Amino acid sequence: MNILSSGRVARILDRLHQDAEASDREHLQAMMAAIEAPGTSVEQVVADMIAEERADYRTIYRRYADNFLAVSPAYGRFLYMIARARKATRIVEFGTSMGISTIYLAAALRDNGGGHLIGSDLEPAKVTRARANLDAAGLADLVEIRAGDALETLKDVGGEVDLLLVDGAFSLYLPVLKLIEPRLKTGAVILGENAFDPGYLDYVRNPANGYVSQPLPVDEGRGNEFTVRTS
Ligand SMILES: C[S@@+](CC[C@H](N)C(=O)[O-])C[C@H]1O[C@@H](n2cnc3c(N)ncnc32)[C@H](O)[C@@H]1O
Repeated sequence: MNILSSGRVARILDRLHQDAEASDREHLQAMMAAIEAPGTSVEQVVADMIAEERADYRTIYRRYADNFLAVSPAYGRFLYMIARARKATRIVEFGTSMGISTIYLAAALRDNGGGHLIGSDLEPAKVTRARANLDAAGLADLVEIRAGDALETLKDVGGEVDLLLVDGAFSLYLPVLKLIEPRLKTGAVILGENAFDPGYLDYVRNPANGYVSQPLPVDEGRGNEFTVRTS
């Protein structure tokens, strides 16, 4: 048996996914309407979002302080599976929000026999809610969530990293990766959720930078990129 599939963790994840769906419905409908508007495309909408973020990502994410913007159950299960397969003991997460992805990853740490996950979020209220959710899931002892800008809070992750999830401001995937890069183990997995930034994709898809990378066919259209550190 594993702790993801039954009992306390399963119950809290069910509830959080329901809360996320309700909280994000309007936001997702607005995104779909933008994408389906005549004369535009997904690529154009994403390019506009990245340009807007580059101007001021803090203000943009303040607007989403009450939104989960969470991974799907299928992607969450994938997070658990890859952390188990990698036998991860040290995980870093850029963009924790209310802690849904964090619960999947911390559940894998528990079933791997223990470890440490460093999460991060700009919004202090989200950090408080994520900590409470981790506590409710019985996983708080494995997780440290740092409040503030990940470009500052993830400067020191204290040891070698088995798995990095990048799921924060789209425009910061490459700077955050470069911050953690010196700490990535050979064979570390980097998962980019909403990895749309061409600068990030060009970097991880260039083998000269020490990665092998390709799109991940889970939740297609959400820009999921699967990357392995090769050096
Ligand atoms: C897509 S959500 C994360 C969802 C979460 N991984 C989950 O599946 O439950 C992105 C989060 O990144 C946070 N964020 C954006 N820019 C950030 C930054 N520079 N530093 C830390 N967190 C940031 C936002 O506040 C938001 O909560």
